[in-house]
Amino acid sequence: MSLISVQQLTFSYDGSFGNVFDQVSFQMDSDWKLGFVSRNGRGKTTFLNLLMGRYEYRGQISASVNFEYFPYEVSSKTAICREVVREIDPEIMEWQIKKELSLLNVEDEVLDRPFDTLSEGEQTKLLLASMFLVDNAFLLLDEPTNHIDSSARASLKEYLKRKNSFILVSHDRDLLDACVDHILSINKTQIEIQKGNFSSWWANKSARDEFELAENKKLKREITRLTDSTRRSERWAAKVEDSKMGLGKDGQKVADKGYIGHKAAKAMKRAKNIEARREEAVIEKSSLLHNIERNDDIKISPIPFYKERLVEADHLSVAYGSKVVFNDLSFSIYRGERVALTGKNGAGKSSVLKLIMRQDIPHSGGFKTESGLVISYVPQSTDGLSGTLLEFERSRRLDGALFRAILDKFDFSKDQFDKKIEDYSGGQKKKIVLAASLCEKAHLYVWDEPLNYIDIFSRMQIEKMLLRYQPTIVFVEHDEAFTREVATKTVVVGE
Ligand SMILES: Nc1ncnc2c1ncn2[C@@H]1O[C@H](COP(=O)(O)OP(=O)(O)OP(=O)(O)O)[C@@H](O)[C@H]1O
Ligand SMILES: [Mg+2]
Repeated sequence: MSLISVQQLTFSYDGSFGNVFDQVSFQMDSDWKLGFVSRNGRGKTTFLNLLMGRYEYRGQISASVNFEYFPYEVSSKTAICREVVREIDPEIMEWQIKKELSLLNVEDEVLDRPFDTLSEGEQTKLLLASMFLVDNAFLLLDEPTNHIDSSARASLKEYLKRKNSFILVSHDRDLLDACVDHILSINKTQIEIQKGNFSSWWANKSARDEFELAENKKLKREITRLTDSTRRSERWAAKVEDSKMGLGKDGQKVADKGYIGHKAAKAMKRAKNIEARREEAVIEKSSLLHNIERNDDIKISPIPFYKERLVEADHLSVAYGSKVVFNDLSFSIYRGERVALTGKNGAGKSSVLKLIMRQDIPHSGGFKTESGLVISYVPQSTDGLSGTLLEFERSRRLDGALFRAILDKFDFSKDQFDKKIEDYSGGQKKKIVLAASLCEKAHLYVWDEPLNYIDIFSRMQIEKMLLRYQPTIVFVEHDEAFTREVATKTVVVGE
């Protein structure tokens, strides 16, 4: 065990307004298993890159471990996997990697295959297994499960449970709960480390937020009361002060040093005490609420379709050339349903969504979407997004005020609005396409992995919104906590 120490870290991107980190200090033990959480765009990826020494910064980071970063860019995707392992560390022995792969339910034979023939889940597993084998490694895992299916997630979860020495950035509550022993969080005004898993961190945070909100309310009431009292006492003190002045022998005003004078001094003292207590309460109040995240309700405006059934697949098959993706899939989507499409990577979930979007996907069997159906779509990838927010709004014909109000509720600060979309963090980009869909009035919402990269707070906002406004929706989403909460029906593709 050794210490990873961060002292007075200050960093900003070139040409960008404001610091991502400002005089941040904390320490971690190298054998901890840390979950790293925050709202999108607070600097998780930036911090991991700073640990990797990729940017210049002010302050000190000291550590005597080998940081390994995931996602790892392999130098040649067509290289044989054994070579990829060697590229990560030539010291790794064949038996070692085979043992790790077996823990991850991956067959040894993949070592002889070109890297790009592995599924995304297998690629992730091979890279992680190799990194954990690096001598004195400390892994920086930046959302490693984003693109992998639930069975690969499950085996990664089991694997990470047995490992230590890593920081895991994830917005997946179930995953964090299963395999971390500390939570590192970037709150609104500080960075904090707490022992425990996500649920215990969340419970502590919620309790503290509630306490602060209650305390804030109490202090607010007290400040109003004290302000009124101060005014009353001041008026009273002024009155007594006035009455204490009598006329002297020479006709000049003189202070009464007797009973009235004593009363005036007392009233003055009382007024001063009340004022001091009021100031104390103001200071106390100002120390509250700094780290309470905004979690405003968001809205969607679905339009009810006039028919009960919106989509029907009857013994549907999809094949690209000779490659059969799935066979014999039957399901319907009825008004008011929230349908989760599940299935392994490559099972054809996105193909089903594209068919619903009336895209040209080669298929046979029955497939029908009702005519006149207005659909709003969130695509899986945000890769093509670039330019300014205004250009995006115009190209999608969005109600700009509504769109920005939703982004604001998703914790987008206004100074982010003027940036180029290509400089946004992963989650910020995904929020753009989600917010656009929320602006659209539709009969059916088709969302392909809507929560990839999206922070936990926003996930909860979206859950609440779906349950409240009950739009008809079909989605693919690997976040099990989310699916459990919102789906009214599950359709398994490709089993
Ligand atoms: N190359 C860049 N140029 C300018 N600003 C950037 C750049 N990369 C990131 N940023 C900004 O720095 C801040 C931190 O970004 P970062 O990607 O570290 O956040 P994050 O916590 O990893 O977010 P997410 O949860 O969405 O992955 C954000 O406001 C982002 O817009
Ligand atoms: Mg990030």
